[in-house]
Amino acid sequence: MDMILLGLPGVGKGTQAKKLEESLEIPHIATGDIFRKAIKNETPLGKKAKSFIDAGELVPDEVTIGIVKERLTKPDCENGFILDGFPRTIAQAEALDEILVEQNRELDLVIYLQAEIDILVKRLAGRRVCVDCGAVYHVENDPPEVEGVCDKCGGKLIQRSDDQEKTVKKRIEVNKEKTAKLADYYQNKGILHEVESTGGIDKVQQRLMELIEANK
Ligand code: AP5
Ligand code: MG
Ligand code: ZN
Repeated sequence: MDMILLGLPGVGKGTQAKKLEESLEIPHIATGDIFRKAIKNETPLGKKAKSFIDAGELVPDEVTIGIVKERLTKPDCENGFILDGFPRTIAQAEALDEILVEQNRELDLVIYLQAEIDILVKRLAGRRVCVDCGAVYHVENDPPEVEGVCDKCGGKLIQRSDDQEKTVKKRIEVNKEKTAKLADYYQNKGILHEVESTGGIDKVQQRLMELIEANK
């Protein structure tokens, strides 16, 4: 199953993709996670990406496309992948089409997760992430067992640097029109499926699994 989770910041792409990765046994590939890891390790990629991410802007296509192209050639993608946060522009979507043609494969599903903007803002304000393993929590909707401590690895939970209110608003604004254009792009290909991303994390996961089962 080759699929994309599309949707605005905070809609639940990462949360849902992590669960799908486990149940479907295909890798979750998130460009945001790749950039954050590179920033943490102070690699050349991290240095390129940091200023864009901190400003809530998109990292340039030429940087992002190359990373995804390389990642999709890894053997663990043979049976499929879950892309999260890519593509984010039509140029990225077209580049992805080319990469997949080269590999003789095709997208099966594009899932467009949706929730109202005020819900997204609340989710991002309450999100906490583990500094060590990147696990994602929410102070109210999905709290860890012990406040400030990761259930999975015991690491410290912090706020993402781009989750400050000002940057959140910017990210939503930057992505709104682009996400709508991408939805049209995949609607025209007949592979877009809209899914309501409200009603709790498990409920959304159930909707996704039903959709995936129906499209196998
Ligand atoms: P990225 O990391 O992809 O950030 P994003 O798109 O802004 O999305 P988020 O990770 O904020 O949201 P999410 O949908 O994953 O939500 P989550 O599951 O965490 O990108 C960061 C930056 O990197 C970009 O701004 C850009 O600069 C750069 N970048 C990345 N990809 C790029 C690309 N392709 N091109 C150019 N630049 C790129 O959930 C949010 C919170 O809500 C959590 O706390 C969670 O617990 C909670 N929650 C989730 N679902 C529910 C639910 N159903 N009910 C209640 N709470 C929920
Ligand atoms: Mg995410
Ligand atoms: Zn952790």
